[in-house]
Amino acid sequence: MGLVSGTCFAETGNNVTCIDIDKEKVAQMKNGIIPIYEPGLEELFKRNIEEGRISFSTNLEEGIKNAEIIFLALPTPSGDDGSANLSYIMNVAEQLGGLLEQYTVIVDKSTVPVGTSAKVEAAIAKKCKVDFDVVSNPEFLREGVAVDDFMKPDRVVIGTSSEKAKKVMEKLYSPFVRQGNPIYIMDEKSAELTKYAANAFLAMKISFMNEIANLAEIVGADVDKIRKGIGSDSRIGKQFLYAGTGYGGSCFPKDVKALAKTSEDYNFDFKILNAVMGVNKNQKTILIPKVKRYFQNNLKGKTIALWGLAFKPNTDDIREAPALDIIEELLKEGAIVNAFDPEAMENVRKVMGSKINLTEKSYQALDGADALIIVTEWNEFRLPDFEKMSKLLKNKVIFDGRNLFENEQMMELGFHYESIGRQPVTHS
Ligand SMILES: NC(=O)c1ccc[n+]([C@@H]2O[C@H](COP(=O)([O-])OP(=O)(O)OC[C@H]3O[C@@H](n4cnc5c(N)ncnc54)[C@H](O)[C@@H]3O)[C@@H](O)[C@H]2O)c1
Repeated sequence: MGLVSGTCFAETGNNVTCIDIDKEKVAQMKNGIIPIYEPGLEELFKRNIEEGRISFSTNLEEGIKNAEIIFLALPTPSGDDGSANLSYIMNVAEQLGGLLEQYTVIVDKSTVPVGTSAKVEAAIAKKCKVDFDVVSNPEFLREGVAVDDFMKPDRVVIGTSSEKAKKVMEKLYSPFVRQGNPIYIMDEKSAELTKYAANAFLAMKISFMNEIANLAEIVGADVDKIRKGIGSDSRIGKQFLYAGTGYGGSCFPKDVKALAKTSEDYNFDFKILNAVMGVNKNQKTILIPKVKRYFQNNLKGKTIALWGLAFKPNTDDIREAPALDIIEELLKEGAIVNAFDPEAMENVRKVMGSKINLTEKSYQALDGADALIIVTEWNEFRLPDFEKMSKLLKNKVIFDGRNLFENEQMMELGFHYESIGRQPVTHS
């Protein structure tokens, strides 16, 4: 998030220094290499390096020299109790206090619980000798389309009670909202809670559709027809209605958990959130009982191919990816796993090591496999060569966690095909 934000701010003419404690990442970026996969980022990144508007450092003191605005884009991972771990933010805030030399706007851009900007302010104030403001400016970009989201945000949310900071932030964001999208200025707490409300709402929409899918399967209905049927209602909207193997990634799981924890801390029983989390936990491995049923509860020695490992397409991010839960379950059952993903293989190799076979090409994963499981809806899986698949697979069996294919088509092709929220198609 920090790199995308920094690059996009540089793109609008600002001088940006990206500071990270990860020496390897900083060294890579200094050499013009982006340490993540994010479509469209490279072009902007290279251009702004060439123009001398973006530089990199591992040194906080050096990096913030003369900065008018400092963005905290630090991690806020889940702690053991589900709360957002604020140690990264507070650690940097405490250092900043002794380093600021002139009026500076400090921006909480990480997703942080309500009340954090006040904590950051207090931490900086301990040692600070100059005037400063702390602003909450949650970020809504989505991985995979992060650059577009940042350059053309639906809205910008700024939480501040300072007129001075408000002016600084409005000026900074003015190039991004030229089409008239709003900048909402509000109090810090509302801004902080807006981000959690947005992510929790979207996670709820996903879990709701997954429950509709699970019911549809039982009663003999088709979730994709239901999706179209309700999505055309403008009050509901077409987006985020796709049933699947649950939400993952670095944001939804941790943010829903953190909001639940905040509620608990305030003795508020936020009932829906617990249901959203419960549904999602179940949904991540919803394909496993189907696979087991097909193989009469015996996956020992069976080779299962997996297409898609990233938590969603167009990213190499595998944090909380359903594919990892599915792999763990398959391995527990004694299956052999061949897996392919267009971008996430390196990250998977780091956590899975040699426990699974990562293949260089998608079709290699199918060679001699007893079944294919599709986990991530990368575009390249949407129109596969079914003839080639039939030849490579030992059995014509597909479990599709993203409903990429039509039941009728799979029936004609003679596949055993099970998906989410639709009726299974059995071998002809
Ligand atoms: N990833 C997204 O799509 C997204 C979208 C909106 C908001 N956010 C929020 O942004 C925040 C960051 O998320 P992310 O996905 O970019 O995390 P990330 O882990 O990819 O990046 C965080 C970076 O901070 C660095 N870091 C850690 N401690 C540091 C320190 N003391 N000084 C300097 N750098 C340090 C890490 O090395 C890492 O490179 C989180 O709060 C997240 O919820 C993320």
